[in-house]
Amino acid sequence: MTETPAAQTPNHTVTLVDNASGRRYELPVLKGSTGPDVIDVRKLYQETGYFTFDPGYTSTGSCESAITYIDGDKGTLLYRGYPIEQLAEGSDFMEVCYLLLYGDLPTAEQKRKFEHDITYHTMLHEQMHKFIDGFRRDSHPMAVMVGLVGALSAFYHDSTDITNPRHRMIASYRMIAKMPTMAAWAYKYSLGQPFIYPRNDLRYSENFLYMMFATPCEPYKVNPVLAKAMDRILILHADHEQNASTSTVRLAGSSGANPFACIAAGIASLWGPAHGGANEAVLKMLEEIGDKSRVSEYVKRAKDKDDPFRLMGFGHRVYHNYDPRARIMRQSCHEVLEELGVRDEPLLDMAMELERIALEDEYFVSKKLYPNVDFYSGIIFRAMGIPVSLFTVLFAVARTVGWVAQWNEMIEDPTQKIGRPRQLYAGPTSRPFKQLAERV
Ligand code: CMC
Repeated sequence: MTETPAAQTPNHTVTLVDNASGRRYELPVLKGSTGPDVIDVRKLYQETGYFTFDPGYTSTGSCESAITYIDGDKGTLLYRGYPIEQLAEGSDFMEVCYLLLYGDLPTAEQKRKFEHDITYHTMLHEQMHKFIDGFRRDSHPMAVMVGLVGALSAFYHDSTDITNPRHRMIASYRMIAKMPTMAAWAYKYSLGQPFIYPRNDLRYSENFLYMMFATPCEPYKVNPVLAKAMDRILILHADHEQNASTSTVRLAGSSGANPFACIAAGIASLWGPAHGGANEAVLKMLEEIGDKSRVSEYVKRAKDKDDPFRLMGFGHRVYHNYDPRARIMRQSCHEVLEELGVRDEPLLDMAMELERIALEDEYFVSKKLYPNVDFYSGIIFRAMGIPVSLFTVLFAVARTVGWVAQWNEMIEDPTQKIGRPRQLYAGPTSRPFKQLAERV
């Protein structure tokens, strides 16, 4: 594991002037390796008696990190300094996992060992069958995943000393290795089909597709084009800085909680339609639109302040430019449809029309609302035969490495404390308690 460099010493200070008291405070400014400098407010309360107020954390850096960097204005995404485009083109998901976890791309020998170790952790404890059996067949697979990953915390007692780097790595490998197995089993359970066990002769993405689509009745050969597309999707979703689910994992982990339970918390956060649930929401939206001719009607609705409807798969908290992942995903989407011989796919036609209109429309242009990664991933998944309810689960499989890398980095950070935001209290101040008989 590479060491997280400490934030660089104060560059300069900013002066905060309290116009009520006339007092002045000097706040240090810290410089990262790139990106905006940050005002260090850690001693603000102690020195001024004020808290900062930033619901949604739009201006707040919650930690120091050396894993992922996003420049939202330029549309840049780097994993450990490597541009996402280069990784998606020349690397594979196992290498990216190694990179995110350890800070450097692996040598051939490191890669061989890493893949071997991940492969040999893909099986689930047999008791997990019983756990899955407890769910209704029509459960949302994300509900099953929250339950299953949370349950792992009750199965692996030999890797839960979070102060021990070796324990942390074993838990991390287990999570990366077992997620595809759990995701595939959640799917098989919803179909009522037998669970398919992992195969050690298959690579990570191939194995995932195999466990999803094989049955015990006949041999199943994974299509290499689809395995490659899946691998690329996993790379693109592997980490994304301090997003809601990653921040959830860090916050849960900041109390010293069990690592599997922390990842279950991250999965719960990812589920929402404003985050990982967006790819599912995109497909539902396209199905609702139903026809290319109705696209402009929906664009109009998205612009109407009195209508809660939003164009799913558009906009991003950080990107105010084309999401670089969306560009790669768009290309993959065409490759997959070509390979599968999907022509005249109405959903894709609608998606292209939506993209065209939105990219020209003054509302979307002025607010810098571009298609995000989820806009295309749903279409690829659908073409692969993956049901809509499983889309966010695939995102969770990919993001697991990001979550565990960020969790490890947090535990290793010597300045790490339990996360405990403050608030602007707006409720009643002290009121005398009244006995029930006195209340009218
Ligand atoms: N359709 C229509 N208007 C939008 C949209 C949209 N998809 N997204 C943002 N806006 C408008 C919004 O109404 C607001 O307008 P105004 O300034 O007039 O009030 C302005 O753009 C800024 O939006 P915001 O909600 O303040 O921005 P945010 O940073 O809080 O939200 C977002 C980011 C991703 C939650 C939001 O763009 C959204 O809901 N998009 C649709 C859901 C989606 O695709 N989510 C996937 C995100 S990428 C996957 C991931 O990383 O998890």
